[in-house]
Amino acid sequence: MNTHAAMPNLTGPGGGPYLRNAWYVAGWADELVADEPQAKVFLEEPVALFRDADGVAKAIGGRCPHRFAPLGRGRMADGILTCPYHGLGFDGSGTCVLNPHQGEAPPKVSVAAYPLVERYRLLWIWMGDAAKADPATIPDFAWLDDPRWEAVRGSVVAEGHFELYVDNILDLSHANFVHPALVANSFTLGERKFWQDGEKVFSRYTRPDDYLSEGISAMVGTTGRKQDFIGEVVWHAPGNLYFDFRVADPGTPYDQMTLLPSIHAFTPETAGTTHYLWATARDFALGDAEFSAIMRGALEFAFEHEDAPLIRDAHRLMKGQDFWDLRPLVLSGDGGGIRARRQLRRMIAAEQGRVLEDN
Ligand code: FES
Ligand SMILES: [Fe+2]
Repeated sequence: MNTHAAMPNLTGPGGGPYLRNAWYVAGWADELVADEPQAKVFLEEPVALFRDADGVAKAIGGRCPHRFAPLGRGRMADGILTCPYHGLGFDGSGTCVLNPHQGEAPPKVSVAAYPLVERYRLLWIWMGDAAKADPATIPDFAWLDDPRWEAVRGSVVAEGHFELYVDNILDLSHANFVHPALVANSFTLGERKFWQDGEKVFSRYTRPDDYLSEGISAMVGTTGRKQDFIGEVVWHAPGNLYFDFRVADPGTPYDQMTLLPSIHAFTPETAGTTHYLWATARDFALGDAEFSAIMRGALEFAFEHEDAPLIRDAHRLMKGQDFWDLRPLVLSGDGGGIRARRQLRRMIAAEQGRVLEDN
């Protein structure tokens, strides 16, 4: 499962290496409901998610130390997560606090406790050194939690290495080919600019005075009219992307253009599977359920049924080989994806106390 054979010094025990000291999206907060724990895998580690007696979301190691049953498939009892196999109970700190057998004391054992923050309607998990987890470094997706915006959204576990999914958002030149109903010339003919600022990577596409796709035109109410278009993607390591999509009548000032903000969050499940969470919002047609259904359907089709199967098949054709070992052709649209891959590799090396000579 090692997909990073070219970087043996960086390779962790699983299919990594992964950046551990970073915030990863663990799911939609409202999908973690009281008394319904979840079993998930992040960075190849089993994790149990649940809400404690106060409703606070918690994440602890997902493998019971007794016979290794998935704790996330257990039941809640008075705010304690009980193992589905023989009923040992664990609190939000991962400590075993309940032994239901024969009046015995709970064994002195605990599982990992992962920092977990509920913010912007998302759960953010920290898979590294808990002492380094600073919620101030969670990227800003405040619009997800702002009543001025109404979002449609989804989440799916998709096959393929998460960096292939990151590439997909940073290189929107694929859009004409993969999403013909949604996108017209903007990304292939538009001006492209890629740059890095600190640890963030940016891709920007600008296309003034051209027709949008029929689908987008209908969505923003500009059918038959040429529009200015500006799309900017911001990558936050390791896999959280903001897409700022703006359209307007030609010449409209930037801050008055119609904005559709999106999040694409990719959290590795394993080296070959990725948690893909997405949302796109609007500040018009608020409360219009039919509009939301059409918008959601179009985006879900694009991300989950156009992008994901293609990336899945590309991942399969890579047969577990390292991305760079395959000597990928570099095209002009790759300026964002390549920067992000290099930056992530530098961050992983730094986290492991290594210096890269070739990066
Ligand atoms: S496996 Fe969890 S209590 Fe036995
Ligand atoms: Fe796409």
